[in-house]
Amino acid sequence: MLPSLVALTMQDLLAGGLFSLAALEDAAPVALQMPATSSGWKAWNRFRTLCDHHVRLCCALELTVDKTSEKELERWLAEPVRCVILSPSTFLLNRSGYPVLPKKAKALLEQLFRRQVQVIIAEPQSVEQNEGLLPRLSYIARLFQALPPLSQAERFAYSHMDTLQAPLQPLADNLESETYELFETDPVKYAKYQEAVFIFLTERKQEGRPMPFCVMVLGAGRGPLVEAALKAAERAEVEVDLYAVEKNPNAVQALRHRKRRDGWSSVQVVPGDMRSWDAPKKADVIISELLGSFGDNELSPECLDGAQRFLASDGVCIPISYTAALTPVTAPGLWANARQGAAGGGVADLETAYVVHMQHAFYPCSAVKDCFEFHHPNWTMESNDRCVDLDFEIEVDSLVHGFAGYFDCVLYGPEHISIHPKNFSVGMFSWFPMFFPLRHPQYVPRGSIIRSHWWRRHDAHKVWYEWALTEPAPTEVQNPGGRSWPIGLL
Ligand SMILES: C[S@@+](CC[C@H](N)C(=O)[O-])C[C@H]1O[C@@H](n2cnc3c(N)ncnc32)[C@H](O)[C@@H]1O
Ligand SMILES: *[C@@H]1O[C@H](CO)[C@@H](O)[C@H](O)[C@H]1NC(C)=O
Ligand SMILES: *[C@@H]1O[C@H](CO)[C@@H](O)[C@H](O)[C@H]1NC(C)=O
Ligand SMILES: *[C@@H]1O[C@H](CO)[C@@H](O)[C@H](O)[C@H]1NC(C)=O
Repeated sequence: MLPSLVALTMQDLLAGGLFSLAALEDAAPVALQMPATSSGWKAWNRFRTLCDHHVRLCCALELTVDKTSEKELERWLAEPVRCVILSPSTFLLNRSGYPVLPKKAKALLEQLFRRQVQVIIAEPQSVEQNEGLLPRLSYIARLFQALPPLSQAERFAYSHMDTLQAPLQPLADNLESETYELFETDPVKYAKYQEAVFIFLTERKQEGRPMPFCVMVLGAGRGPLVEAALKAAERAEVEVDLYAVEKNPNAVQALRHRKRRDGWSSVQVVPGDMRSWDAPKKADVIISELLGSFGDNELSPECLDGAQRFLASDGVCIPISYTAALTPVTAPGLWANARQGAAGGGVADLETAYVVHMQHAFYPCSAVKDCFEFHHPNWTMESNDRCVDLDFEIEVDSLVHGFAGYFDCVLYGPEHISIHPKNFSVGMFSWFPMFFPLRHPQYVPRGSIIRSHWWRRHDAHKVWYEWALTEPAPTEVQNPGGRSWPIGLL
């Protein structure tokens, strides 16, 4: 159910003198009536900044689009639009004489429908226009009904939209059984792994290598990658000795149970940390999935470096490599929610990255740029610390609240898993993007550059990221020394 709204126009606000912030402390949201035009967005942006991004302030959008560009209109998708006002003049008449929305307005409205807006068809001013009310109403109803139903992955994402989650730390913490269960329902991830392992095993077989091949699944969880590897071996018609290494004692119990239940006679379950395991022989292939939304943020590089001791000199790691990527994002609601204690309060709230399915978000730069990259095995002992500078050109005046982070991962051969927007593995829902907030939102006009700086650093106990801007204006380095968001190595 939608909350009741107090509608204010810019004129009301100006006539009433200075708008009192106290009005926002009452229970009802306060909606500012705004045209969807560029000047409307600028007025809205000024106003919500003056109100310090108050979470009760929202807008009632008049769908007047005129010459506003599509990119400018898209900005509204990030804003708290609670209702859409359609005045008679918004409609055109089609060749049969029925009222329809101009193309750009229609596209915007369809996307706003997914954000649960209330539609107000404004009262006509004259009798003449009145005749058009019913056709306009049924046109809007038909638009709504024609929205395609959500896919399985979209339904899952929808139920998590705009919810900030602390990134998991599967190395330092033990995952819950429910978390594994959720991963295991992913319809894409394990199929891709199975294919990657199948390609690898087939190649080894064709090279005439002696069997059985030694396969190690490191961080096996409750066993889905073990199952994928066994199926790949069966398809490739090869014999394997499989070791399943897992440090979470509860998951080890589940693995042992599965070994008995499913008759996994070629599988040995090994409890313990892969970095200290004394392996009985060398592996032909090490299979793992230790990836976070930003690729390396669950410390896959450190874990696999610690395990490559027992990889044969011509052995292969699946995945072979992964790359994190970033783009600036406008996300006023996420930013305001993060600030309200999402990481426990204080400076940490805006110095922690969050895993979040971003619905109310807008991307002012169409480029997504690669940040940190890792390859396995790493025989050259290259450091896992990184430092990268990334410039983004802003395509439309906007307020930037932080960055959206993604990963792209090469499993083996052509097999990929990715949440990179340009390469997304359709249907995969194990990872949502990462949101790196900025302490202070930055206003960036069209054509200007955001110059951002990213560090990955470590000490004996932890790994952490630091980030900062130097353009359009310098900011403080965020999360210095990992003070707010350390990723535990132990
Ligand atoms: C993201 S989960 C993946 C689990 C499972 N392979 C799957 O795909 O559902 C990563 C698993 O690796 C385990 N893990 C992380 N670091 C490890 C380490 N250093 N040694 C052994 N297991 C580790 C975690 O406990 C967790 O079960
Ligand atoms: C005009 O709109 C009506 C109702 O929305 C629709 O049934 C009709 O097919 C449209 N005509 C043309 C020529 O697009
Ligand atoms: C390579 O391995 C060394 C030693 O284990 C480690 O210190 C380094 O960070 C690793 N680098 C990469 C790029 O994997
Ligand atoms: C997308 O995937 C292809 C392989 O399928 C890979 O070559 C390319 O580098 C990936 N692009 C990005 C932007 O990650």
